Amino acid sequence: MTAEGIVLVTGGSRGIGAATATLLAEQGRRVVISDIAPEPLAGTQVVMWPAPFDVANESAVVSGIADIEAAHGPIAGLVNAAGVFGKMHPIERVRMDQWDREVNIDLRGTFLVARSVGVRMAARRQGAIVNVASVAGMTSGPIHAYTAAKAAVIQITQTLAAEWGRSGVRVNAVSPGFTRTAMLEAGIASGALNKKWLESPTAMNRLVEPIEVAQAISWLLSPMSSGVTGINLPVDAGYIAGTTWAAYGGLREAPNA
Ligand SMILES: NC(=O)c1ccc[n+]([C@@H]2O[C@H](COP(=O)([O-])OP(=O)(O)OC[C@H]3O[C@@H](n4cnc5c(N)ncnc54)[C@H](O)[C@@H]3O)[C@@H](O)[C@H]2O)c1
Repeated sequence: MTAEGIVLVTGGSRGIGAATATLLAEQGRRVVISDIAPEPLAGTQVVMWPAPFDVANESAVVSGIADIEAAHGPIAGLVNAAGVFGKMHPIERVRMDQWDREVNIDLRGTFLVARSVGVRMAARRQGAIVNVASVAGMTSGPIHAYTAAKAAVIQITQTLAAEWGRSGVRVNAVSPGFTRTAMLEAGIASGALNKKWLESPTAMNRLVEPIEVAQAISWLLSPMSSGVTGINLPVDAGYIAGTTWAAYGGLREAPNA
């Protein structure tokens, strides 16, 4: 990413997308957000794209990206943060309409936006793309479509990095662990999620903050990571490192100071 051009953040009105858009704007980037349920980011310089499009809708994505570039200039950085969480169900009760929704938004949507923007970046010989995957795509869990969709996001990140590497476009993924967004907080408040169960498998015994995911995304968009493409960077407070310790009796508490 150079100082030329905007950064587009899909799903930028809430959660990880909003934290990322806010941070990038504070760092001096020109940032445009798009979201199916658009809300401006009050108190920031972030521009909200006023014509929402569904990232899973091919023709809407193609025309939406063309319109954004026509209005705001070339997209030099893309953050694919639009996504929906997986519904947690035993396998017998997985509804295929729900399966299709999760795969369509989380995988197809990521691919469609990355393709629409990436071919434009490749023609200009510059750009950086960050896809938001999940530790769920690297582990198993009773969220059958979501885990598969996120694993596939990690896979297409590599494929797109190889596709556009010679055209000067870098493509990477971040994989957040359980991240303290408003939606996660609401799930904890309603009792649908148990905070201790989310925290205790992590090496650091805590949730991830949205700003921590944003900082990793900012690095992957910036020239500071100019030699990095095709990777998947977990930002998970050590969820992947810590989760297997249950088999050995669990993680050790810190010794008393
Ligand atoms: N919060 C977590 O614990 C966590 C963990 C791992 C990965 N993630 C991933 O991070 C990404 C962002 O999630 P979040 O936690 O910030 O959720 P969020 O719900 O706070 O934000 C997601 C945003 O995407 C938008 N969106 C949803 N469907 C869309 C569509 N079809 N087209 C355009 N926009 C759409 C929503 O309106 C919302 O503003 C998702 O891909 C999610 O799977 C989140």
